[in-house]
Amino acid sequence: MTTPVVARPKPCLVNLKGGRTYYWCACGLSAKQPFCDGSHSGTTFQPLKFTAAAQGEEVLLCGCKHTRNPPFCDGAHTNLPGGSPVDDPASPQNRDIPLVTERSGARALLNGDCYIISPRLAEMNTRGHLRYCYLVNAELGSLYQTQILLEVSGGASPVLSLGKRDVILFIGAGKGTVTISGKPFSVQTTDGVYIRPSEALQLIAEPGETLRVFVLACPLGEIEWLEQMPDNFDSQQPERVVSVDPAQRTEMGPRYFQILVDKRIGSRVITQFIGHIPPSKAAPHRHLYEEAIIVLSGEGCMWTEDRKAPVAAGDVIFLPRKQLHSLEATSAGGMDVVGVICPGDNPSINYYD
Ligand code: FES
Repeated sequence: MTTPVVARPKPCLVNLKGGRTYYWCACGLSAKQPFCDGSHSGTTFQPLKFTAAAQGEEVLLCGCKHTRNPPFCDGAHTNLPGGSPVDDPASPQNRDIPLVTERSGARALLNGDCYIISPRLAEMNTRGHLRYCYLVNAELGSLYQTQILLEVSGGASPVLSLGKRDVILFIGAGKGTVTISGKPFSVQTTDGVYIRPSEALQLIAEPGETLRVFVLACPLGEIEWLEQMPDNFDSQQPERVVSVDPAQRTEMGPRYFQILVDKRIGSRVITQFIGHIPPSKAAPHRHLYEEAIIVLSGEGCMWTEDRKAPVAAGDVIFLPRKQLHSLEATSAGGMDVVGVICPGDNPSINYYD
C-alpha cells in the first residue's frame, strides 16, 4: 500500500479540546475517521500526532488523506473521484424550492442572513467626484467584513481610510490610479489591490473613464474621510497590485480560480480570488469562512436551504460562515466571479454533511 485510501472524499468538522493530543489517520483505513484506530498496522503509514492549541477550535480535518497540509483539509479532495459532487437543479426535491422574487431594498434575502444585493438598485451617496454605497456590513449581517462600492469619474475621489484594517480592492471597471498613502499605482479592470492597515487611498479615473472599485475591509468598519493624504506607505510591502494570469489558476473539480491578493503580498486575514463556474450546480456545502462574491459575467442561481434567487453580472452575494449553499451557473458560458474570504486563505476548502 503506497497511497492512502480515500476514507471519505470530504473533510470532517471537528471541535478540538485545547491541550489535548490527537492522532489523525493517515492511511485512510481507520473506522474512527478522521482519527487513528490502529488499522495502519502492517502498512508503511503512521498516524499524525498533533495537539490542539485552542479550546473549542473548529477545524476541518482531511478525510480523503490526500491533503498537502496534514492533518487539515487543503481542498485536495475536490480533485479526487467523488470530491466535487454536483446536484440536479431539476430533481423533485429542488423543484419544490421557491424562487425569491421580492426584494428588501436592493437585496433578495435567502436563508441565514445570506443575501444577494444589486448595486444598480442601491441608493448611492455622493462626495465630490465619488459615489459610494455599502454592500456588506454589520447592519446587513456581516461579522467579519465590510464591502463598499466606490465609483469615481471626472477627477479624483476624496482621500479615505478604513483605519487599522486590512483592505482589498477589486477594480470592477475602468482605468485609473489608486494612490496608497502617497504612492500611485496604475490599475485596470480585474486587478486586485492590497492596502495595509492605517494606510489611506484615493482613486483617480482616467479622462473619460468611470473607475468602479469594490473595497473589502476586515474587520468590520466604516470609511474615515481624511483632509489630506498621509505619508505612511508601508515600503516593507512595495508590491500592491495583482493582475489576472491564467498560468496561476488552480483547478477545483470542474471549476477553477486564481488567487489575487493573499498573504503573499501581506494580507493577513482576507484572501481574494477570481474564478470561473461552468454551467452546473455544485452539491450544497458550507465553508468555515465568511464570503462576499461579485458576479462578473453570466447568470445563475444562488440556493440555500429552502430558498433560491437569481443572480446576474453586477450582483454581489453575501454568504455567512457555515451557511449551507450552492451557486449554480445557468449561462452557456458559465459565470465568472471574484470573491473574498474572511478569515481564510484557501477558497477550495468546503465541507458538507
Ligand atoms: S478532505 Fe482531504 S483535502 Fe479535503
